[in-house]
Amino acid sequence: MLSIRLESLAKHIKFNDKVIDIGCDHALLDIYLVKNNVVKKIMASDIHEQALDAGIANIKRENLEEKITTRLGDGLDVLTDKDNIDTILISGMGTSTILKILDHPYLSKINKLVIQSNNDHFLLRNSICRLGFIIKAEDFLVDNHKHYINIVFIRGKAKYRKRELMYGPILIHNTNYLNFELNNCLKIYHLIPKMKLRYRLKLGREIRLLKYLLKKGR
Ligand SMILES: C[S@@+](CC[C@H](N)C(=O)[O-])C[C@H]1O[C@@H](n2cnc3c(N)ncnc32)[C@H](O)[C@@H]1O
Repeated sequence: MLSIRLESLAKHIKFNDKVIDIGCDHALLDIYLVKNNVVKKIMASDIHEQALDAGIANIKRENLEEKITTRLGDGLDVLTDKDNIDTILISGMGTSTILKILDHPYLSKINKLVIQSNNDHFLLRNSICRLGFIIKAEDFLVDNHKHYINIVFIRGKAKYRKRELMYGPILIHNTNYLNFELNNCLKIYHLIPKMKLRYRLKLGREIRLLKYLLKKGR
């Protein structure tokens, strides 16, 4: 059975999307997507041979070689115009790796990004929106006691407030998520040595903002 984390990404993929899953590793999500007819075919890639081999073995076990194309290589380098890919799926990586992958000429052909980054969602939203995308959907979920955020970007222009880039224009209305962020900030705040004044002040501001947003949302 697919994990809650990976299944949460599947619902953002539509039948006509022409998808590459970058950093597919085990390819479990790609297998799920074609087996459940979410898409007819998909491309799965990874930069590490060993990871891709694990994916290929799983794909072969399910007899899905005709529906799942695999490529070994770095991010969007594996694509040519002929591949006609218009949707990127990336999960299980950090924001800096994701942004390096997106810094590529092939991005101009991409209409949709489905991303589950491990960290720095402010930088992720800010940078991708500057590349000509808007935020279409966001999820906050828990799987196996770990928290995850999915963000779906599509082509468009929008001006977001800083707080929307920090907490997400959609997640900013999700009290579960705001409470999670507030608890994290409070935990860290009490651990910061008093000398680290700048950091304490920054975190103090964030705590006040989160409390305000939670009060406003009530
Ligand atoms: C933690 S795994 C995540 C696997 C899967 N996407 C998931 O969410 O379970 C990250 C994978 O990304 C691959 N990866 C990292 N940087 C990459 C890049 N620049 N291009 C393609 N794959 C990359 C790694 O080799 C690894 O297999």
